[in-house]
Amino acid sequence: MENYKITLLKGDGIGPEIVNQAVKVLDKTAEKFNFTVDYDEALLGGCAIDATGVPLPDETVEKCKASDSVLLGAVGGPKWDKLPGDQRPEKGLLGIRGALGLFANLRPSVIFGPLKSASPIKDDIIGGNLDIMIVRELTGGIYFGERGRKTVDSNEAAWDTEMYSVPEIERIARVAFDLAMKRNKKLTSVDKANVLESSRLWRETVIRISKEYPEVELNHMYVDNCAMQLVRNPRQFDVIVTSNIFGDILSDEASMIAGSIGMLASASLSGGKLGLYEPIHGSAPDIAGQDIANPLATILSVAMMLRYSLNQGAAADAIEAAVAKVLEKYRTPDIYEDGFEKVGCEKMGDLVCEAL
Ligand code: IPM
Ligand code: MG
Repeated sequence: MENYKITLLKGDGIGPEIVNQAVKVLDKTAEKFNFTVDYDEALLGGCAIDATGVPLPDETVEKCKASDSVLLGAVGGPKWDKLPGDQRPEKGLLGIRGALGLFANLRPSVIFGPLKSASPIKDDIIGGNLDIMIVRELTGGIYFGERGRKTVDSNEAAWDTEMYSVPEIERIARVAFDLAMKRNKKLTSVDKANVLESSRLWRETVIRISKEYPEVELNHMYVDNCAMQLVRNPRQFDVIVTSNIFGDILSDEASMIAGSIGMLASASLSGGKLGLYEPIHGSAPDIAGQDIANPLATILSVAMMLRYSLNQGAAADAIEAAVAKVLEKYRTPDIYEDGFEKVGCEKMGDLVCEAL
């Protein structure tokens, strides 16, 4: 029987409660699909700052590296907002992505059938359906570039650097083309090549890699136009590949088009087996500890883990089907509509287990 070692980074705010529900669902799935899971916990973000003084202790990196996969809740909160940039919880998140080499971030924007009406976009535009995969470069660009402060003409100034090398662009492009091949064979590369030199290299490189994928229809879009096209006609997109900062912004936009940020999962991949899986929403400190958070994005992140890291595609399908089934009757407050039964975080986890 296959056994997997999973490191849990529960994090801050609602992180622990949503991860607990996801673990419950993973255990139930393991039972059903005949595999076993061992868990280990490690600290990341604000809880790590409180316990050790740093947002990413070395022990956390070691534990993650020694596991088959990592499940993350969320990090951050007002308690740590006043710390200097390099000591904030967010620095821990960027740090673990870098330390594990998680250069490819997959952020699917999908509408679960029963949640059709949750999208703020008119139904004649959405057509009751949306299935976009955003592939965000995750360990390069301006979030990892040199930055600093200096004095310019006796004024304080600050600077950050956007830089991409050809190998960095090639490897993220290949991830996106490979995904497009498994989907509708349509890839949109998003850049700002009319202004940025780094974007011009991005575009040249993506065009060169496209020769390896003659079946994929490739187009290029400036990021400002893409932001607009996502609300004007989201159904034109299949896979989108873009840089770290543009992907950060566009994936939040795409998640809202899908209805609720509380529903969307993500995978961060290294090219090897090890991946990190997390909901795309934040730590929601305002609702933490009240048993009202929506655990479905974390539960769906477990499905992505099973599919992309653990080679348990059927188990992943089963979790997604169970979530869709539960949504026909039950809703957490963030996605509540008349005619449904309102349930809390823990109950939602139980319902998904039952539906499995
Ligand atoms: C995300 C978040 C992070 C990012 C922050 C918290 C550092 O916004 O995962 O999208 O920008 O990558
Ligand atoms: Mg973000």
